[in-house]
Parts: sequence; structure tokens; C-alpha cells
Amino acid sequence: LRGGPVIAVDGPAAAGKGTLARRLAEALGLPYLDTGLLYRAVGRIALDAGRDPAQPAQDIAHALLATDLQRPDLRLPEVAQAASKVAAQPAVRAALVETQRRFALDRGAVLDGRDIGTAIFPDADVKLFITASPATRALRRFLQMGGDSTAPDCAARLREMEEALRARDMADASREVAPMRAAADAHVIETDTMNAQAVLAEALRIAQARLATIRA
Ligand code: CDP
Ligand code: CDP
Repeated sequence: LRGGPVIAVDGPAAAGKGTLARRLAEALGLPYLDTGLLYRAVGRIALDAGRDPAQPAQDIAHALLATDLQRPDLRLPEVAQAASKVAAQPAVRAALVETQRRFALDRGAVLDGRDIGTAIFPDADVKLFITASPATRALRRFLQMGGDSTAPDCAARLREMEEALRARDMADASREVAPMRAAADAHVIETDTMNAQAVLAEALRIAQARLATIRA
């Protein structure tokens, strides 16, 4: 039995999952886990060792223990690409399942990722799937990384960003183990015309309604 509710936040890259999940956790007084960081850390380990992230590696769980998940370089785009490659390996996913489930054991949790509502917590109390068009998501990631929307090469860089996001989403959605997809019972939130505050308000409305029926 868990010590609190589990809220799953899934969706494609740069949809605003992390921003929402962090605020939702704060509003509901729950611990928050960015599960993408686990895959990014494994991808980073492969890059640092000069290994091909698409090739299976030994002892992932052990290497991960020695990695600082706060390292700012985990946020780099090349690490996201490496993360997506290691994330397609069944052994990597299997090595990370228990860490994610244990995280929610004591007090419940909000977790964001790709397979939280489908594979890690198919019995999550609340499932949200946060999405937006590739163009919207590319702009969000561009601005988040300090991109200047008035720079002369802005259009070219946005196109590049969008291509990279599309390619990673395609890989994440088509892998054999725990592909990215909305669970049948997930609430899908299309956020193209919503700011982060509006997304939080909608998510809180859904979560509080669900949690009230569970408590009743
Ligand atoms: O975790 P994920 O990759 O899905 O996205 P994020 O890092 O939480 O959000 C990407 C950027 O979009 C951040 O700079 C957010 O402030 C911004 N944003 C958002 O999160 N939600 C919106 N509705 C609009 C923008
Ligand atoms: O922030 P962004 O949405 O760009 O990426 P992320 O959430 O940090 O995830 C990086 C990569 O890790 C994704 O492209 C997925 O391949 C993988 N991932 C996954 O497979 N399952 C998760 N629960 C979380 C991330």
C-alpha cells in the first residue's frame, strides 16, 4: 500500500511536463521526480565513456548511483539524444523501474516522463498526458535554453530544434519496450494556446476531482 496518491505526467519533449509536475507537486504537497533525468544520466555516462548509447552496457544501476542528477550538463540537447537511445534498451528500462516505484512508496508522488501512466504506475490515481504541436514545443525549448527570438538565424534554429524534437518523439513512440503513449485512461491536455499557469489550473482541477472520488 502506498502512503499517498500517485500522479503520472507523460507526454512528448518540451511539452511542459516538468514545469507542470513540479508545480502540481508543490500545490498538493507531494514529492516530485523527473524520470527523464534518470535516462539522461545513463546517456551521459555512455557519452563520457566514449560508448555508443545505442549499444547495451553493463551495470547501469551501479553507474547511476555515482551520478549527480543535479548536474546542469544533463540538460544539453546531445544528452537528450543519448538518453532516447539508451531508453530504447529493455535492460536500461528494467534497471530503472524499481527506483521509480520506490520513490512514491512513502508519501505518493508526482512523476513526469513517457511511460509513467502506462508502465511504471498503470494504477496511478491521476494520469495526465501533456502535449502541444512540434512548432510550439520547439519554440518553448528554444526560449527555455536562452534563445533570442529576434536573432537573424532564429527561424533556422527553430526548424532545427523542431526536427530534433520530432525525431526523438518518433523514436520514443516507436520503441518496443514502454513506448511513449497516452494511457487509455489518461486526461490529455493540448497546451498550444495555454500558458503554464493555465495548464496548472486545468491539471489541478482534474487531479482534485479524481482524488476526491478516491477519498470518498
Ligand atoms: O518537461 P518538458 O520537457 O515537457 O517541458 P518543460 O521543461 O517543463 O517546459 C519547457 C518550457 O516551456 C519551459 O521553459 C516552460 O516554462 C515553458 N512552458 C510550459 O512549461 N508550459 C506552457 N504552457 C508554456 C510554456
Ligand atoms: O525534457 P525532455 O522532455 O526533452 O526530455 P526528458 O523528459 O528529460 O527525457 C529524455 C529522454 O529520456 C526521452 O526522449 C526518452 O527517450 C527518455 N525517457 C523515457 O524513455 N522514459 C521516461 N519515463 C522519461 C524519459
